[in-house]
Amino acid sequence: MLVDETSPYYVVGAFDCAAGYVENRPKVQAAFRTGGGVAWGDQPGCVFCAIARFFRPGYEANIVEKWLPALDGVVEKLKAGARVADVGCGHGFSTLIMADAFPNSEFIGFDFHDASIEEARGHAKKHGAGDNVRFEVATAKDFPGKDYDLVTCFDALHDMGDPAGAARHIHQALKPGGAWMIVEPFAHDALEQNINPVGRLYYSASTLVCVPTSLNQEVGTALGAQAGEGRLREVAKSGGFRQFRRAAETPFNLILEARH
Ligand SMILES: C[S@@+](CC[C@H](N)C(=O)[O-])C[C@H]1O[C@@H](n2cnc3c(N)ncnc32)[C@H](O)[C@@H]1O
Repeated sequence: MLVDETSPYYVVGAFDCAAGYVENRPKVQAAFRTGGGVAWGDQPGCVFCAIARFFRPGYEANIVEKWLPALDGVVEKLKAGARVADVGCGHGFSTLIMADAFPNSEFIGFDFHDASIEEARGHAKKHGAGDNVRFEVATAKDFPGKDYDLVTCFDALHDMGDPAGAARHIHQALKPGGAWMIVEPFAHDALEQNINPVGRLYYSASTLVCVPTSLNQEVGTALGAQAGEGRLREVAKSGGFRQFRRAAETPFNLILEARH
C-alpha cells in the first residue's frame, strides 16, 4: 500500500491529494462566498500529479484486464483496429495503457488543460509509446473527429462545467454502434449510503477540487465526485444516449457504458 507503486492497493497518491486539497482551501473558501469556482489550472502544488498517481495503479490493474472486456464487443474492435478518444485524459496514463495493449488501434487523448497535455506527451516519450497515440488540447465539447468507435472519460465527466453538453458532443463524435465508457468515482445514489471511508475521501475531493473546477466553467453543473449512477444516467440521456448500464465496479470506480 505504501511502497510498491505498481500495486493496485498503492494509496500514497491519496495522501498527496489530501495535501493539495488542504492547500487549496483558502481559494475555495473565497470562491464559495461569491458562488464562483477555482480553475483546474489554478489548483496548488501538483494536484494533477497526485490525482494521476492515485488512479494509475487501479488503471494498470483494471482497464485492459477488466473494464474494457466488460463493454459489449469493444475488445474485439480494439484488437482489429479502432479509433478512440480519451476525453479529459489529464496526464494520459489511461490513454497510454490502452494504446500499449491495442497497437492496431489509434488513440487520441484530449484535455483542456495544456500543462497536463504537455505532461502526457512527456510520459508518452518517457515510456516509449508507439505512434498509435497522441495528445491534443481540446475541451470535451469541441474535440475534433466524428468517427470514434470508443470515447472514454476517466474521472473527468463530473469535473466538467457542462457534462450534458459534453455528452451531446460525444454522442455526435461516435460512429453508429460506438460506445462511451464513463469511469467515475464509486458512489451510491443517496448521500446516506456514501457515508463510509471511500465516500469521505471523495466528498472532500469533490468539495475542494471537483465542484470548484466545474463552477469555474460555463454552465457550472457541479455534479461533484459522488454523483452516483442515477444522476450520471440523466446526463448521458440528456446528451441523446438511449442505452446506459453499469458494466463493472471497484470499491473506487463505477464503470458505465452508454450507447446511441
Ligand atoms: C480528475 S482529472 C482526471 C484526469 C485523468 N483522466 C485521470 O484519470 O487521471 C479531470 C480532468 O478533466 C479535465 N477537464 C475538466 N473539465 C474539462 C473540459 N470541460 N474539457 C476537457 N477536459 C476537462 C481536467 O483538465 C483534468 O485533467
